[in-house]
Amino acid sequence: MAVIRAIYLFVLTQILVKGLRWNEWWKGTIVYQIYPRSFMDSDGDGVGDLAGITSRLEYFNDIGVSTIWLNPVYKSPMADFGYDVADFKDIDPIFGTMADFDELISKAHRLGLKLVMDFVPNHTSDQHPWFVESKKNKDSTNRYRDYYVWVDPKKNCSDPPEKCIPNNWVGLLGGTVWEWVPERQQFYLHQFLKKQPDLNHRDPAVQLQMIDALQFWLEKGIDGIRVDSIRFIYENVDLDDEPINPDYTPIPGERPQYNSLIHNKTADLPEVQELLYVWRRLSDEYSREHNYRLMVTEAYVTHKTLLSYYGTPERPEADFPFNFGFIDLNKENLSGIKIHQLVNDWMKDLSPDEWPNWVIGNHDNSRIADRIGVKYARALNVLNLLLPGTPTTYYGEEIAMEDIWVSYNDTQDPFAINNPEHWEEYTRDPERSPLQWDRSSHAGFSKTTGKAWLPVNQNYLLGINVADQKADNTSALALYKKLAALRKDEPAFHTNHLKYVVVTEKIFSFLRMPDDQDTKPDSFLVIINAGTSESTHDYTAALKKLELKAEGDAGVIEVSSNMDRNGKSQGLSKISLAAGEALIIKTSVYGFSSAVSNT
Ligand code: GLC
Ligand code: MG
Repeated sequence: MAVIRAIYLFVLTQILVKGLRWNEWWKGTIVYQIYPRSFMDSDGDGVGDLAGITSRLEYFNDIGVSTIWLNPVYKSPMADFGYDVADFKDIDPIFGTMADFDELISKAHRLGLKLVMDFVPNHTSDQHPWFVESKKNKDSTNRYRDYYVWVDPKKNCSDPPEKCIPNNWVGLLGGTVWEWVPERQQFYLHQFLKKQPDLNHRDPAVQLQMIDALQFWLEKGIDGIRVDSIRFIYENVDLDDEPINPDYTPIPGERPQYNSLIHNKTADLPEVQELLYVWRRLSDEYSREHNYRLMVTEAYVTHKTLLSYYGTPERPEADFPFNFGFIDLNKENLSGIKIHQLVNDWMKDLSPDEWPNWVIGNHDNSRIADRIGVKYARALNVLNLLLPGTPTTYYGEEIAMEDIWVSYNDTQDPFAINNPEHWEEYTRDPERSPLQWDRSSHAGFSKTTGKAWLPVNQNYLLGINVADQKADNTSALALYKKLAALRKDEPAFHTNHLKYVVVTEKIFSFLRMPDDQDTKPDSFLVIINAGTSESTHDYTAALKKLELKAEGDAGVIEVSSNMDRNGKSQGLSKISLAAGEALIIKTSVYGFSSAVSNT
């Protein structure tokens, strides 16, 4: 039975990706981000784990997701919940064992799912054996001597050495990047927590270690990597001070914050691209027919730098760098014009071989439903899933989950605990609460009788849970499934064609069309009302301006975000949407000029 199912799913996956080459499966998929601590707890300790994820994999077949990306599950003292790795080739006991991982990947593949792992090359844990050895001494016999960025106290400094900070560099969490180690009589560099010393990728041995770690997972059969924090991998060797940011106003008595400086010595150094190219070539070596390995990068950076991470056709780097444009959306700036600007900024500079992608939330940012208001959460799923390119869904977005509130005393996130004065700016606990599965205790996330590592949002009792939404064909989840199916089944969503139709303060709307325009195939007009009141427009006129015409100036509402207008016919000359509503209208659109010559 299992074998037949596996064959069936394999065949199905092959059909679904028709039109895409074997090494392009990631263009047709949705990437679903799993924060492993918060997805599903199998052993009742209140923390999610690998066996929990394995037990829920069928969910992805059900909702139309075919790729999952896991935040780090490597051995870690959890100073940054797994982003402080103590062994790149082992699983942390809190998440289970290597056998649990093997079980997860084999079941995922059986179900036709791809599995992407986080890869954290910028830093390790201070408990990593490399660091433990490295900090002991700087003797030439110390094999790990140069594994980290070690620097002497500043010269010509009359203070005690530990006070002679090498330069003005400030870390992501504020304060100096330098930490003194008496044993070595040197400082080491950390761009994040003190407990996350930065690796020195200028030491060839470090590069080899990272290659070794990557090979380990590629050999296990993972389908790709998401490379963490790539901006910070290299720092300038001359250690010059960074320029002061003229737009920053320091708060007296407070340690300097990250944006007090212009980071031209500690971020986005060109060497990063060399490294990405090395990893790309390595992962290509493991890419076999129907087994292409994806590479995605993480960097919050200017558009220009971001685009450079695609590399070039001759020297490819990431398949796509995460595009965090939509992370900037908030209650204050949400509008049709703003969405258009964010979409267009990204699309206009992409060359034909650079594939777009969209992210509306993740484990480092407040959830979309909170940033822009829950009323607009469904419309943002429409946008995310129906624009050209690969969408990423942060777990829970499919049911429109909201942030939780956690007091300072209960806060788990070390980024916040380390910054008592700014903890509310830094805390990432709110967006990391457990996935809400059903109405049982802890929303079905855990069987613990005590507390889960973070509380669930109490709205799990008010319909914000998977089980209730599965049973309700007007739910956010029902909408999500429809959108995922549309993406998969409709040729219009398999191309990169995108035309903006009406764009106003309230409305962002666009047209998706298939390649074949001669046979008047199905196209889709997607309209989003990002305003605070109803909006009515003439879309026939707007199409005409684009020299396009819809057959009969009408269509059918394929999906409405509130799932209450599906299947209704709709004239295009007057379409009204409620605030926060999105409509997907199926119609047959063709070039106006050819339409004229046909009559
Ligand atoms: C990335 C991760 C974040 C982590 C940081 C340090 O930004 O997304 O969660 O804290 O890197 O590894
Ligand atoms: Mg557990």
